[in-house]
Amino acid sequence: MQVKRLSLAIASAAFCLFAQTAAHAADTVVANSFSDDAAHRRADMLVKQLTLDEKLQLIHSKYQMSDVPGGGAGYIEGVPRLGIPSINMVDSATGGGSTVQPSTTFPATIALAASWDPVLAYQFGGVIAHQLRQQGFAMGLGGGTNLAREARGGRMFEYLGEDPVLAGEMLAERTRATQDHKVIATVKHYVGNEQETNRMGGNDTIDERTLRELYLLPFELAVKQGQPGNVMCSYNKINGTYACENPHVLNDVLKGDWHFQGQVQSDWGAAHSTAPAINAGLDEEEDVGPTVFLTPDLVKQALANHQITQARLDDMVRRKLYVMIRTGVMDDPPKGGETIDFDAARRFAQHAEEQSIVLLKNQDRQLPLDAASLKHIAVIGGHADVGVITGGGSGDTRDPVTGAFPGCGGLTFPNSTGCNWWPNPWIKLPTPITTAIKNLAPNATVSFAGNQDMQSPFRAYTQQEIDAAVNLARQSDVAIVFVTQSGGEDFGELHSLALANPSNQDALVEAVAQANPHTVVVLESGNPVLMPWKDQVSAIVDAWYPGEGGGNAIANVLFGKVNPSGKLPVTFPLRDADTPTWDGGNIAQNPVYSEGLKMGYRWYDAQHIQPMFPFGHGLSYTHFAYSDLHVRQHGDQSTTVSFVLRNDGPVAGAEVPQVYLGLNDPVEPPKRLVGWEKVSLKPGEARCVTIEIPAKMRRVWDTSRNGWKIAQGGQFYVGASSRDIRLEQK
Ligand code: BGC
Repeated sequence: MQVKRLSLAIASAAFCLFAQTAAHAADTVVANSFSDDAAHRRADMLVKQLTLDEKLQLIHSKYQMSDVPGGGAGYIEGVPRLGIPSINMVDSATGGGSTVQPSTTFPATIALAASWDPVLAYQFGGVIAHQLRQQGFAMGLGGGTNLAREARGGRMFEYLGEDPVLAGEMLAERTRATQDHKVIATVKHYVGNEQETNRMGGNDTIDERTLRELYLLPFELAVKQGQPGNVMCSYNKINGTYACENPHVLNDVLKGDWHFQGQVQSDWGAAHSTAPAINAGLDEEEDVGPTVFLTPDLVKQALANHQITQARLDDMVRRKLYVMIRTGVMDDPPKGGETIDFDAARRFAQHAEEQSIVLLKNQDRQLPLDAASLKHIAVIGGHADVGVITGGGSGDTRDPVTGAFPGCGGLTFPNSTGCNWWPNPWIKLPTPITTAIKNLAPNATVSFAGNQDMQSPFRAYTQQEIDAAVNLARQSDVAIVFVTQSGGEDFGELHSLALANPSNQDALVEAVAQANPHTVVVLESGNPVLMPWKDQVSAIVDAWYPGEGGGNAIANVLFGKVNPSGKLPVTFPLRDADTPTWDGGNIAQNPVYSEGLKMGYRWYDAQHIQPMFPFGHGLSYTHFAYSDLHVRQHGDQSTTVSFVLRNDGPVAGAEVPQVYLGLNDPVEPPKRLVGWEKVSLKPGEARCVTIEIPAKMRRVWDTSRNGWKIAQGGQFYVGASSRDIRLEQK
């Protein structure tokens, strides 16, 4: 089901009432038919023609990583005599992960979530998939959507934030676009893979209600609306059983309740058995050796011992063939070796970043900068003169087209297994931030001060470097300080949300802020950041991991060529200790999700903790007024929420009004996000925004019946963030 949103330019609030009726009459639900009979019949026919050995070849990625053609991560050899092509797969969270073919580095996935724009998510998926096909890949392994339960999570940059509906809707769009480009899409890591600590098998204890309402929900939305061909099961255990042999999450929920017809693939090395995994719903194993379980010999043995049935093996193969047929990979496999238009991709990367940057603070309208009135601009720190930081691990581009700095740059994470195959936390920019700023302020001098050592880019600032930065700031009209936070797969969690690597970035910001009252801080991070200097600086901009268009995008936002419109997809707390999982700094080896439904903003709301910047927060260079709320309930079905949004500030801009629902249920946190829309308005323009809230947004898991029920009543709120509620249902 997809929700159509309707907004109309209006002259008066009365018109908004009319629009509300019209919106409902037009109906809001578009059904997708996942089941494609012809594809199923054709897959059945093929299964009948395959020999046992050919079937076994199709359920096990045959090669070790270094042998995968094209620098991908896995490879399933096809059956040419039946016209079944090979499947070459590659990571693709923020761009292609080929180790031997250059790829565009897009902004991190968390940035995409910060755009709150499903249309952008569709474009993002499409542009990446297009490049993958040109490189010869038939399957993309992007599509991570574990929730930001652990604020210090090493892989948070690869995911879509802390709200299951925001994450699920964005992922569904990305998935649809990927497959519209004839690349099989993956959603991962199914499920409960919210941390890196003990990453190869920690046991998550999660009660069923919490699992259904939070951690399964983004997958449910993406599976039902986006119909991915592939679901990757995760490394961890859920309530005592490994995810890749967990019959509850695979058979009961994914294939049973949600009618998923694609294949389940193990994360690399996440299979732990042959028959139990196959019978629980695993369809394909990825071989990273030395311990493998779905090899031809072991599966034959399981068949001979009647531990698995021939029918189940056929089902595994049929699922793969069905997906290949339905996505177009069967009849039109990617050829690879095509010329890629990297300039066009970079322009899109810049556009995506511009839509994702979040303006966190803007005291006295410090931003946008006025180029004409500035003579001296200080750019400080973060290697802003050469490049940007990216997330590490499989969620990164491994061979960025723009070039990477060598090595891991002295990352100092706990539990790190090293950076031997994760080469590039830092990429060079064709237009570094300093150059992009200079281009927008041609009459000003733009000077850089910082740690310029790219051999060890995380080295702490020396006192001399801090002094030089302070001197420069003192002589400048504005000081723009870049701070970075590294993070990545296999690096463990961050110790703290405080800036690290270099560890003395807070001291740098504080010293610069003392020297210049016009200090602007730009963050490059995949996680929330603590900011002890928040009240000492004039403006704060979150650029996430900006990707290779980041230089121009950041400069365009700083100088107002682009009006920021991103909103936080994660809460930024005041202290580590305020986060739901803080346990004096210990990250549990086997996490117990004892906070239940109180995760992300739900936690801060329920515990009455004031965040530093709440979920959904993001400022603009204009101002938006909200008025005339109307809520109309359609029996037990959907609800129409409509209101007038007016740009009553000086410039054009986009706002993301958010609809929250508070349910009358003592177990539920005070509110949940149930809808939003990204609305662009010219100065003075007003629009009636009508958001249809389907009944399923009222679902709560009824533990007494082990099923869903639709909660009645409750109260709707419309806000500019989860804590900036502008309209309330009376
Ligand atoms: C990661 C997956 C990734 C796979 C292949 C694993 O370590 O957890 O997300 O797709 O490697 O690179």
